Amino acid sequence: MAQHSPREKLRLIQCGLGGMGKAWRDNATAASDDFEVVAVVDVAEKPLHEGGEHLKVPPERRFSDLADALRKVEADAVLTVTPPAVHVQHAKLAFASGLHVLTEKPIADELENAKLMVKLAADADKQLVVAQNYRYHPPMQTLRRLLDEQVVGALGHGHLDFYIGADFTGSFREAMKFPLLLDMAIHHMDLIRATTGRNIARVFAQTFNPSWSWYRHHAGLKMLLELDDGTPFSYSGDWSALGRETGWNGNWRLQCAQGSIHLDKAKASVARCGKWGKNEVEEPVDVPEAAANGQAMLLRDFAEAIRSGKPAATSGSDNLWSFGAVVAGVISATQRRSVVVGDLVK
Ligand SMILES: NC(=O)c1ccc[n+]([C@@H]2O[C@H](COP(=O)([O-])OP(=O)(O)OC[C@H]3O[C@@H](n4cnc5c(N)ncnc54)[C@H](O)[C@@H]3O)[C@@H](O)[C@H]2O)c1
Repeated sequence: MAQHSPREKLRLIQCGLGGMGKAWRDNATAASDDFEVVAVVDVAEKPLHEGGEHLKVPPERRFSDLADALRKVEADAVLTVTPPAVHVQHAKLAFASGLHVLTEKPIADELENAKLMVKLAADADKQLVVAQNYRYHPPMQTLRRLLDEQVVGALGHGHLDFYIGADFTGSFREAMKFPLLLDMAIHHMDLIRATTGRNIARVFAQTFNPSWSWYRHHAGLKMLLELDDGTPFSYSGDWSALGRETGWNGNWRLQCAQGSIHLDKAKASVARCGKWGKNEVEEPVDVPEAAANGQAMLLRDFAEAIRSGKPAATSGSDNLWSFGAVVAGVISATQRRSVVVGDLVK
């Protein structure tokens, strides 16, 4: 794979300057040490020109179509912050032109497209990285450290709750199928893998739309997961939940041999007690400030993967196991049976 000097900036085409595209622009691409935005692409005029102005990309390098941008502008990489069904289209175009790809999650709209993206990246010998930014949230890194250090012994089983009444007025999520499972639970599946260091082997899911939900399709779900060493993990959520909210990482309980590890909104703690609940103590655990936001960390990882030729932690092939768990959830909920993730991913 062609390697780039650490000093020269990589040339990036940013596609999608809507809601999350703005976050990428403001948190990472406008002031990156690694990348210079050489062109922007959006099918809608307003975000295209607003984003172009902000990123100081002149009008002649603002496009409504990535194929056009690739014909007219020399670049090293594409960032796509577009709706999930567009990711595979952009990956096909980028890999065919010899560029690397950083895509927003979920990697694709369908597993076959996700697998195709991974194959095209391998065939082109280019990097494919997926924006699983929740891995970089300090509370999640703290939970991972507490488990790694076995502060209360080995993990036995776990649970994650996600309850947020999110306002997505006008967004694709209002009408899409399985909005919570496909658009949000992908973060939680990926976090369960990254935090426990285990893949999700088997999934049983039930999805539903609460009577009060403002989504067209299922905003609620219950999932029972089996990790690849047999560890049971349960997950429950509602994206139309009114009442007490959990925070976007969700609330976690990791039940270990000598106590439990918790995340309640941004507060981490470790609880211990003797048998029959004697001498119970729960101690808060400091969560460090973020060194940088998730988009900036991902962009740095992307540059590192391009320069070193080594896949990033959130590479496309790693992501097949997170997205595979989500797709297993859709199949399970639809067919009312448990689904082996490896049968889908391999
Ligand atoms: N990682 C996170 O925390 C996070 C948070 C929110 C959204 N996302 C993801 O980011 C992606 C975009 O979501 P969003 O909320 O920004 O959606 P959005 O609808 O606000 O913005 C999408 C933008 O893409 C543009 N677009 C659509 N088709 C295009 C095409 N073919 N070529 C170029 N531009 C095109 C639209 O005009 C729009 O400006 C989704 O995959 C979503 O799941 C990730």
